[in-house]
Amino acid sequence: MKLLEDRIREDGTVLPGDVLKVDNFLNHQIDPDLMNAIGEEFARLFADAGVTKVLTVESSGIAPALMTGFQLHVPVIFARKHRSLTLTDNLYTATVYSYTKQVNNDISVDKRFISADDKVLIIDDFLANGQAVQGLMEIAKAANVEIAGVGVVIEKSFQKGHQMVIDAGLHLEALASVASLENNQVTFMSDKK
Ligand code: G4P
Ligand code: NA
Ligand code: NA
Repeated sequence: MKLLEDRIREDGTVLPGDVLKVDNFLNHQIDPDLMNAIGEEFARLFADAGVTKVLTVESSGIAPALMTGFQLHVPVIFARKHRSLTLTDNLYTATVYSYTKQVNNDISVDKRFISADDKVLIIDDFLANGQAVQGLMEIAKAANVEIAGVGVVIEKSFQKGHQMVIDAGLHLEALASVASLENNQVTFMSDKK
């Protein structure tokens, strides 16, 4: 998505440890016009996938997920993060390990909000090591629902998440695919073609 790649080039900064900081339009301050364009693009890409709900995880997944649900006219569910849960009877839960923060978090969705005839579209802001998306896939599996696909705003193609989603046999769409962050420089997969 050209608009997004241009914005990343303009406003993104590369931090040590292969981190792309985009907190002035996605992860802290949010650009609603850009999020709207992102929602339109995901809605176009998954138009024929039979999506009944959009599934994401708080907090940074919510903005792109909401705009996608708005375009598809389906509800948006965000899994909530907790340190560790005790009362989980009414929840679908998965454990997500964060490489960047080196902590385990449980994410959970109330069973009332997913039913067996749903087909969920997983949306997130970043696909890096894929732990968050994997957690959402586990929740979908526990709820016995089909996954329509996985849409991420930005993927770092050189980390493990991309291949994990492909190996799961899922339709993956990344609106910007970062091939490398070497030398503090953002290189997109589209630059290489
Ligand atoms: P993973 O889900 O792909 O495995 O992500 P990982 O554990 O590697 O990273 C943990 C958090 O950092 C996740 O957000 C993930 O989206 C984010 N992240 C990973 N790589 C980058 C990057 O290059 N730039 C930015 N800006 N974020 C990155 P989170 O902890 O779930 O936080 P949030 O959703 O509350 O913001
Ligand atoms: Na996220
Ligand atoms: Na994040």
